[in-house]
Amino acid sequence: MPRGAESAAVLPAHLTGAVIILAIESSCDETSAAVSVDGVLRANIVSSQLFHHRYGGIVPELASRAHLRSIVPIVREALDTAGIGIEQVTHVAATQGPGLIGSLLVGLNFGKAFALSRGLPFIPVNHIEAHMIAAFLEEPHPAFPYLCLVVSGGHTQLMLARAVDDHEILGATIDDAAGEAYDKVGKMLGLGFPGGPEIDRRAGRGDATRITLPRPLLDSGDWRFSFSGLKTAVLYQLRREAPEALAQGVPPPEEYLNDICAAFQAAVVDVLVEKTLRAAAAWKLRDIVLAGGVSANSELRRRMRTRGEAAGLRVFLPAPAYTTDNAAMVAQCAWMLLARGHTGTLHAPAYSRTQHGSADAATA
Ligand code: KG4
Ligand code: ZN
Repeated sequence: MPRGAESAAVLPAHLTGAVIILAIESSCDETSAAVSVDGVLRANIVSSQLFHHRYGGIVPELASRAHLRSIVPIVREALDTAGIGIEQVTHVAATQGPGLIGSLLVGLNFGKAFALSRGLPFIPVNHIEAHMIAAFLEEPHPAFPYLCLVVSGGHTQLMLARAVDDHEILGATIDDAAGEAYDKVGKMLGLGFPGGPEIDRRAGRGDATRITLPRPLLDSGDWRFSFSGLKTAVLYQLRREAPEALAQGVPPPEEYLNDICAAFQAAVVDVLVEKTLRAAAAWKLRDIVLAGGVSANSELRRRMRTRGEAAGLRVFLPAPAYTTDNAAMVAQCAWMLLARGHTGTLHAPAYSRTQHGSADAATA
């Protein structure tokens, strides 16, 4: 049985014949298209907009323009790689939100237009739901209900997943996302954008015990996170220990730089791992899934695996290609939604925040 289909005991009658999904993701700075056949991934093409490095962060207007340039060639490449002709596609899926509205509208409207022109069902997919489902792209995959820690540049939240379309946010960050804190600290340290991968590399060479940083909300007794104060603690450290480098926007001396990266990483990982394990115990969940760009972090992966397994839990760490933004997870999510009986709709406005129909929703 294709992965994830067991969440529906029997495939609904509307899924007779091969189900060939063309899936599109364009919520932030990756344009991606994927093709799956009966729930099995055939192609996943990702084009990353590397030019944002120059600006020290993602420029929304430039991101949507780049999506417009890439969407047609990326979709064509995905279909060619999968060996699927346009006329063979049976369903179209695209990310609806949350994300950058201008970016979302490119992929969402392309998907709707494709579906409308060919008379196909269109399945709108929630970006966070897709991240949560990415763990089904590999074997072994988790079993519902499971706990998912979504950590990216835009989100840090603990989710209880009961089914593909049934989940609950147990707690989320009250200020910066973990990846956002990595990127802001990277900027302060003169390491460029995005800061996460470089801080991770340097942390491996530093001594985390030489600098003491806070563990925000570690013992708050709930599942909320906060990383903005930690970022400010790093700033105060730099003002005291490396004021010249901070003023000039260049990295401080090598040894100090590696130590502060190690101390910052240890603080972030301590909070993420501890709170995730406590939530798993409180909700009596056996499976833990990591999702989002920050789950590429070497220390987070290592510690979540060793601590989780020591506690008798199963820990799922999807391959980095499936933790950062990609359309394979959109295809998997759409397949599992179809298996649960969803039939699709063209009435699917883009939304920038988690709530559907919120004040900042735009009509796509
Ligand atoms: O999920 P993602 O690709 O995009 C969204 O934010 O939606 O995540 C990007 C984030 C960035 O903040 C980046 O710094 C962070 O993931 N990141 C890392 C690592 N690799 C990427 N953070 C810590 N350690 C890493 N190895
Ligand atoms: Zn994402």
